[in-house]
Amino acid sequence: MDAIVLLKDDHKTVEKLFKQFEKAGEKAYQEKRKIVEQVVHELTAHAYIEETIFYPVARQDVPDTEDHVLESVEEHHVVVWMLSELKNLDPQDERYDAKMTVLMENVRHHVEEEEQEWFPKVREALGRKKLQELAEQMEKAKADAPDNPLDLISARQ
Ligand SMILES: [Fe+2]
Ligand SMILES: [Fe+2]
Repeated sequence: MDAIVLLKDDHKTVEKLFKQFEKAGEKAYQEKRKIVEQVVHELTAHAYIEETIFYPVARQDVPDTEDHVLESVEEHHVVVWMLSELKNLDPQDERYDAKMTVLMENVRHHVEEEEQEWFPKVREALGRKKLQELAEQMEKAKADAPDNPLDLISARQ
């Protein structure tokens, strides 16, 4: 495993859930709630390993990525607050689909920037061995991820 492959796999998992949500019927409230619960779980764990392991290493070892990391944390901030709202929102609320749509727009934009603009720089600078070590650390760290998105570092910044 390699840290960037691991993070991209997470992105794919989340994108699949987004597609399921988009396909779900307008009135499929239970199904939508289930999908949103999974999205909250996946994205919280993903943000946790990025914020505690991947971003700090990128920032320290690849100085070129500093601005990207800072912008990414701001994007996480918005996303995790939206996740915490979605968690408590009734799927029948008129704002539910709208909030999920904006969340998906935010996440898709964020993922594209990570994958296109700065993960390649990290890959180039760190090399295979370091990326493998990071992957191992991140896989283990997932078990320590909080349940509540507001317990992430980015929520408090
Ligand atoms: Fe991210
Ligand atoms: Fe990511």
